[in-house]
Amino acid sequence: ATHKLLLLPGDGIGPEVMGEVKRLIGWINAQGLAHFETEEGLVGGAAYDASKQSITDATMAMASAADAVIFGAVGGPKWDSVPYEARPEAGLLRLRKDLGLFANLRPAVCYPALAEASSLKREVVEGLDIMIVRELTGGVYFGEPKTITDLGNGQKRAIDTQVYDTYEIERIARVAFDLARKRRNKLTSMEKRNVMKSGVLWNEVVTQVHAREYKDVQLEHQLADSGGMNLVKAPKQFDVIVTDNLFGDMLSDIAAMLTGSLGMLPSASLGEIDATSRKRKSLFEPVHGSAPDIAGKGLANPIAMISSFGMALRYSFDLGALADKVDAAIAAVLAKGMRTADIKSEGTTAVSTSQMGEAILKE
Ligand code: NAI
Ligand code: MG
Repeated sequence: ATHKLLLLPGDGIGPEVMGEVKRLIGWINAQGLAHFETEEGLVGGAAYDASKQSITDATMAMASAADAVIFGAVGGPKWDSVPYEARPEAGLLRLRKDLGLFANLRPAVCYPALAEASSLKREVVEGLDIMIVRELTGGVYFGEPKTITDLGNGQKRAIDTQVYDTYEIERIARVAFDLARKRRNKLTSMEKRNVMKSGVLWNEVVTQVHAREYKDVQLEHQLADSGGMNLVKAPKQFDVIVTDNLFGDMLSDIAAMLTGSLGMLPSASLGEIDATSRKRKSLFEPVHGSAPDIAGKGLANPIAMISSFGMALRYSFDLGALADKVDAAIAAVLAKGMRTADIKSEGTTAVSTSQMGEAILKE
């Protein structure tokens, strides 16, 4: 089967790290390991420069038609004063919204070779491999009413509203249970049922989905605050964590710091499975931004981008064995001491973006 990819390199180091993914795709095709057909489009500042929009309808149509979108990064000082609706991030937000990407997967993996770079002690993080599943299209970031009103007595009132319906919790729970089944078979659900109605419903629905469809997976519930504490105290107790949009935003950034550098962290965003084609919309991107401070210098670490593509192999194309090879190649290159500037320790020399990409390809 031919797999259709839309590549959106974006701005800053986006095109540099995407270059290494293109090289990997070329090699996979040449080896006959899979067949990828790629198209490329503009997003963010690059799209604004060309069309005064951060993503065009034509690019959105390409994204909808693709089996997966591979996204670099957007933004930079050059576009700081463009109109709000055309700001670079708007392109990414439109992709997430229009493709219905409700499930955000953020792995936190600590390669033994990099355990020193973590904010925590080696023994706490070495070999860490957890997955945070964050609900991405609901909750308090989107709920109505969302207002600031003037109370007239020198006071204002700000209102954000946390809203979750059963189906939203069910579908994110299924994504998380499915992932747990492919990993170490354990899921931890986090909410605040002690003080929030949405937490009560979240807990109830996840428990029901478990009883109905996933009895073989070990399910545990933690309150999101003490769960956060456990994440930095003893993170290896977790396999998959599922949580709402707000808690997931915070917990996944905390988990990121367990692993070392921003240049190492991949992510995936998944939509619903289409009833007829059995395919789901998906977008894969590094967690980092466009890094204007190092852009154009060949210094960027391509591992987050390459490993995001690895997630595409695993979650959109059922090429798990190939994804395992990509992960193993990254680990092997790191174990040999190869480092880009962001992860290098004192006294060692750093390699460039393309040297790192090439070394991973060789492995
Ligand atoms: P950033 O992630 O771009 O950079 C933060 C720091 O980490 C910088 O010192 C940078 O050099 C370093 N860094 C990031 N990725 C790296 C990599 N692959 N290799 C080596 N070093 C790396 O975040 P920052 O500086 O807050 O934002 C810069 C621009 O990126 C802004 O315009 C921001 O809006 C945008 N941004 C875009 C995101 C996206 O496209 N999803 C996400 C975050 C920020
Ligand atoms: Mg965040």
